[in-house]
Amino acid sequence: MAVERTLSIIKPDATRRNLTGKINAKFEDAGLRIVAQKRIQLTPAQAGEFYAVHKERPFFGELTEFMASAPVVVQVLEGEGAIAKNREVMGATNPADAAPGTIRAEFAESVGENSVHGSDAPETAAEEIAFYFSGLELVG
Ligand code: RTP
Ligand code: MG
Repeated sequence: MAVERTLSIIKPDATRRNLTGKINAKFEDAGLRIVAQKRIQLTPAQAGEFYAVHKERPFFGELTEFMASAPVVVQVLEGEGAIAKNREVMGATNPADAAPGTIRAEFAESVGENSVHGSDAPETAAEEIAFYFSGLELVG
């Protein structure tokens, strides 16, 4: 399998509870390398731009308000099949459905406040990485 990069976000519910290190340990234990990382505060408009694909969904307002409610940690994870591997480590969107040992099973508070985001395909991964990081910030 090819080495891939994927965009990960540690969401406000997790940064608020000081879980950045515990979540990063899950990525590293799974063989994913954190090759870029920064802590930023999104505005609701920036969160809306990032999640534009969901703008018609009933939870869009709640989601953008939540993502702007506290700092987030945006990261690029690298590894063999990193996109699928990261989604495996994250667990299902709703923590009630997430497999034991996954980040969302252990840390998520609800379907909305679910601790992490991960890209879902190679095209979205490339777009999402470029949304947050410049080429100069990606040193491998
Ligand atoms: P993400 O994009 O954040 O990695 O999560 P995902 O692929 O597992 O889920 P997606 O369907 O893309 O939804 C994006 C985020 O919107 C929030 N959400 N809230 N209240 C709700 O019913 C609901 N459904 C989704 C979650 O924060 C979800 O991660
Ligand atoms: Mg998604």
